[in-house]
Amino acid sequence: MKSIVILISGRGSNMEAVVRAARREGWQTRIAAVISNRADAPGLEFARQQQIPAVVVPSGGHTDRAAFDRLLQQEIDRYSPDLLVLAGFMRILTPGFVEHYAGRMMNIHPSLLPSFPGMHTHRQALAAGVKVHGATVHFVTATLDHGPIIAQQAIAVRPDDTEASLAERVLEIEHPLYVDAVRSFIDGRLSIENGCVRIKDKVLLTMNM
Ligand code: GAR
Repeated sequence: MKSIVILISGRGSNMEAVVRAARREGWQTRIAAVISNRADAPGLEFARQQQIPAVVVPSGGHTDRAAFDRLLQQEIDRYSPDLLVLAGFMRILTPGFVEHYAGRMMNIHPSLLPSFPGMHTHRQALAAGVKVHGATVHFVTATLDHGPIIAQQAIAVRPDDTEASLAERVLEIEHPLYVDAVRSFIDGRLSIENGCVRIKDKVLLTMNM
């Protein structure tokens, strides 16, 4: 049985979507732990309710990023995960950490990468005047919000959209998109060829206009 560890920093709605799908669909998967760098992350409570170990590795008070990443890695590796799922985990990761989980760490980002990496993606999208926006699931590499793209979904930007309305509609598409990507990994249907991800029997871009 494959094992997943999920990292969060806050609300954890993507984590919740993955856990609910795994339970509902009876995935041959153990959600081994949900780990947060913040003790006050609301998502931890859902994990506890689901009897999933909810672990806090505080990111504050370390001499440098690498020191925190080493502690985090130690904690994660206690669960020997096949897959590490970043679900709103708001930390820049050091190259050593990323290398350790190469090919088995994925992230969801609220934009159509490579457009709008970093923070405030919906604000960036509105400022750029794009007519299409969306979400991306990708394997994590050492460059922030970069790495082989696993799946994307687009939505139309409406003339009256605000940061909040875009965030709400993008979050709605994030959940099924992330669930699909994690399920494909767990089912062994994901492969990387020449830096591009292939998913057996799956269309990788869907439009929601
Ligand atoms: C989501 O919109 C996710 O895409 C974004 O943070 C939010 C977390 O929500 N992640 C990033 O911006 C990472 N660069 P959640 O805690 O409810 O899943």
